[in-house]
Amino acid sequence: MIELIKSHRSIRAFKESPLTDNQIDLITESGQWAPTSHHVQAYSILVIKDEEKKKQLAALAGNQVYVEKCPVFFVICADFYRLKQASEKHDQPFEVGEQEQVLVGSIDAALVAQNMLLAARAQGLGGVMIGGIRNDPEAISTLLELPQYTFPVMGLCVGYPDQDPDQKPRMPKRAVIHEERYNQEIIGEALEEYDQTISLYYSERTNGKRKDTWTEHMAHHFSTPKRKEVGNHMKKQGFLK
Ligand SMILES: Cc1cc2nc3c(=O)[nH]c(=O)nc-3n(C[C@H](O)[C@H](O)[C@H](O)COP(=O)(O)O)c2cc1C
Repeated sequence: MIELIKSHRSIRAFKESPLTDNQIDLITESGQWAPTSHHVQAYSILVIKDEEKKKQLAALAGNQVYVEKCPVFFVICADFYRLKQASEKHDQPFEVGEQEQVLVGSIDAALVAQNMLLAARAQGLGGVMIGGIRNDPEAISTLLELPQYTFPVMGLCVGYPDQDPDQKPRMPKRAVIHEERYNQEIIGEALEEYDQTISLYYSERTNGKRKDTWTEHMAHHFSTPKRKEVGNHMKKQGFLK
């Protein structure tokens, strides 16, 4: 298990070979065995094999071709629709308007997705998670007929790998693992080291064409607001009241 976890790389090119129903079942069942807050199981998994639907999802995710080319694309949603039914069944008020429930549904979905990716990898498959499905959550919800009290959290492409990428170096341990207390003093120096590691990694992979550091990349990423529509969509779906 540890070898499997530590050999992770996102896979973005897939062979055409389809997955069997049994392979897909093993992936989705493994997702179901993730722990969930208070046993609420506030998630749903949509299994998408239809070529036309994958094409539309790829476009909505920002033209990410691997969403179309992977044999199976999963959309993992936060889902309180069943919980609404439970409340109605027992004549109870239904309160999901706080930020807390958005976190609960997102965490459940993320744990499910990671279990699914590991279950895929355990079968010799590979995959990549797709946050791009939050580019236009309204369109995704319409396309997939998602009901009230749900929202899409992430996608997951799965298939037989048709590439063998290097692993992306992780931060030095001391930047992310703290003993007994958060050690702010170490961060600046650890980032310096990591910038050099990442710059070398990109340089080697691109024959020197790309040499940017991790902090440069992140500074650019966080210089503009992202996916402003997500909050509006959540409100429309019954959250963040
Ligand atoms: C929630 C989530 C959303 C992601 N969304 C995308 C995406 O839309 N497109 C993509 O190519 N990769 C996506 N990724 C993959 C990350 O870019 C990748 O995990 C990261 O660069 C580290 O590389 P590695 O997974 O190969 O170690 C996503 C990963 C996560 C966890």
